[in-house]
Amino acid sequence: MNTGPNTGPNSGLNTGPNSGPNVLVTVTVNGAVEAGSVHPHRNLVSFLREECGLTGTKEGCDDCECGACMVLVDGRPVNSCSFLAAQADGKSVITVEGLAGPNGALSPLQAAFLSCGGVQCGFCTPGMLISATALLDRVPNPTDDEIRTAVSGNLCRCTGYTGIFDAVRAAAG
Ligand code: FES
Ligand code: FES
Repeated sequence: MNTGPNTGPNSGLNTGPNSGPNVLVTVTVNGAVEAGSVHPHRNLVSFLREECGLTGTKEGCDDCECGACMVLVDGRPVNSCSFLAAQADGKSVITVEGLAGPNGALSPLQAAFLSCGGVQCGFCTPGMLISATALLDRVPNPTDDEIRTAVSGNLCRCTGYTGIFDAVRAAAG
């Protein structure tokens, strides 16, 4: 069993010959200002989950393949496993927690995911919701092709995608 300290790039600890000094970042996350000192190689998903306590964003492949870690950065969907926390300095980030209304009311898209069977295990759901939200913000009434393209970077092993496409269609407009 490895009981040593976690000193990898996402640990928040600054070690090793090429690590460089930590950097100070200030990020607006779901409307709240979050500041911290982070390792220059620390990714945004780790910062969100471990420093901001926002565990809705999932880390699946850690290699830009699955889309589970998708968040909006200044309105643009990005894979937060491959986006440095330092790159988010001064930017606005929206996570899945930020999609609900002020009293926790589900957004129309979130409600449609539930009613259309777009959620099973739920691991892909935060990333799917972020990608689909970005699409609907940009294109209020997307075509089926536009929906498929928008979530093409999000993998789901459970639903067969039909319920997800139905949910985006139902929330459109
Ligand atoms: Fe980021 Fe899979 S965890 S794309
Ligand atoms: Fe399980 Fe999509 S609902 S991976």
